[in-house]
Amino acid sequence: MAPILSLFFALFIASVSVAAPVEQRQIGDLACNIDRVKILTDLVSTGSAVGQIDTSDPATATAVAAAQSGLKAVGDSVAEIALALVTGAAAPADARTAVSQGLNDTRSALESITNPAVSASVAAAQSKLQTAIDDGNAVLADCN
Ligand SMILES: *[C@@H]1O[C@H](CO)[C@@H](O)[C@H](O)[C@H]1NC(C)=O
Repeated sequence: MAPILSLFFALFIASVSVAAPVEQRQIGDLACNIDRVKILTDLVSTGSAVGQIDTSDPATATAVAAAQSGLKAVGDSVAEIALALVTGAAAPADARTAVSQGLNDTRSALESITNPAVSASVAAAQSKLQTAIDDGNAVLADCN
């Protein structure tokens, strides 16, 4: 997942600069671009934290796989939004919904892990995910 997210990150950096004139015509500003970069770094650190969870317990492994697929959906949708911005289009509404859905699915998957042996690494991943959710909300607030 990390190399894929690096690609998204590169795309997003590109969109931040290329989209600047569009941003000025729309309402986006510096805070919006900072939020966009933040959610990308948050996704990378969340993915990394999820990857640290010991999956030797099968139920934990299933939940971790679900969390990772939620994160992948978020990354795919963020890439879709980034590509739209590069071409000067508005962020597609369904991709925004998919970002929210993917973050929620990831949160539910992490919450479903009850194995006490991994509670510390799960809590660490939840904390990173919460930051991603907060920054995702900031994107919605600052980029409209
Ligand atoms: C994700 O969860 C938040 C908070 O519970 C909720 O407001 C939002 O509608 C959910 N997103 C989707 C796509 O269901």
